[in-house]
Amino acid sequence: MFNILIADPLSEDGIQPLRAADNMNIVVDTGLKPEELMEKIGKFDALLVRSQTKVTREIIEQASNLKIIARAGVGVDNIDLEAATENGIIVVNAPNGNTNSAAEHTMAMIMSLSRNIPQAYLSLKEKKWDRKKYVGVEVKNKTLGIVGLGRIGAEVAYRAKGQRMNVIAYDPFLTKEKADNMGIGYGTLDEVLEAADFITIHTPLLKETKHMIDSDAFGKMKDGVQIVNCARGGIIDEDALYHAIVSGKVAGAAMDVFEEEPFTDHRLLELPEVIATPHLGASTFEAQETVAIDVSHDVAGFLNGEPVKNP
Ligand code: NAD
Ligand code: MLT
Repeated sequence: MFNILIADPLSEDGIQPLRAADNMNIVVDTGLKPEELMEKIGKFDALLVRSQTKVTREIIEQASNLKIIARAGVGVDNIDLEAATENGIIVVNAPNGNTNSAAEHTMAMIMSLSRNIPQAYLSLKEKKWDRKKYVGVEVKNKTLGIVGLGRIGAEVAYRAKGQRMNVIAYDPFLTKEKADNMGIGYGTLDEVLEAADFITIHTPLLKETKHMIDSDAFGKMKDGVQIVNCARGGIIDEDALYHAIVSGKVAGAAMDVFEEEPFTDHRLLELPEVIATPHLGASTFEAQETVAIDVSHDVAGFLNGEPVKNP
């Protein structure tokens, strides 16, 4: 029998492929503190997580039986990949299952920002009927700058074109041919930052992208730009964003992800120009079921000697 630990909430329907295998003993134990996980991990062959559990070197070094870590989602920045590799543990993710949900969430953020919907809703809940304060802007004919044109960035581009936005993207792997085929513009990071009325970030969090949007980057943007981050906290420097909003450079920001998560108190949220969700980009029934199915197949297959899809 293989011992499987599910350490973050995963879709019950999605983990059926694991439950269906007759040699898996599945333990669902979510919300463990790091020291609790460190104490328990030794007996498990597989660990399944979303983004909440941080699979650190300290945890991996206690995982003497662990063979596979599965991330039910895209970003593997919560897993110490170097430590996993050194310890002969394979890491898999589910890169496709939540693309659509994350793109839809991004569009919801852009539309909410442009029309002040969360702010107006809060005001109305406080029994104020204020129409003047919440005049918005149309997105039609505005330029959306997309930083990172991978799976989610590309889906956002198609949707933004549907809203009649002009789209321009920066991605080190974006070619003129691909941009032409998609009917969008492309440019350097600076060109995108300079041209955009709305900017949305869709890169992974890497050494190279950490604080990629810093005070210098804000300095290059148009006055009154609005910015969305549904990718990873830390790509935007939060201090720089705070100052860019207070100075009036940035008119609005929509944040789904933060440098430190979870939290309930954050100074960005004190600014009326900031709207936010608690890392909900992939939180739909469809996405959660799909990513859980994908990693469950990978884990069950791998432990039974089959190759995995996304090592
Ligand atoms: P992806 O790998 O398909 O796309 C990422 C793109 O970023 C690639 O095309 C890559 O070339 C590009 N890139 C890398 N470095 C870059 C740089 N320095 N500048 C510009 N572009 C760069 O990934 P994806 O599935 O589209 O996911 C994008 C991001 O969204 C990831 O950070 C992922 O973790 C995050 N995500 C968040 C949620 C959420 O719940 N908010 C859900 C899903 C994914
Ligand atoms: C991801 O990288 O897939 C997202 O962070 C979604 C999640 O919350 O798992």
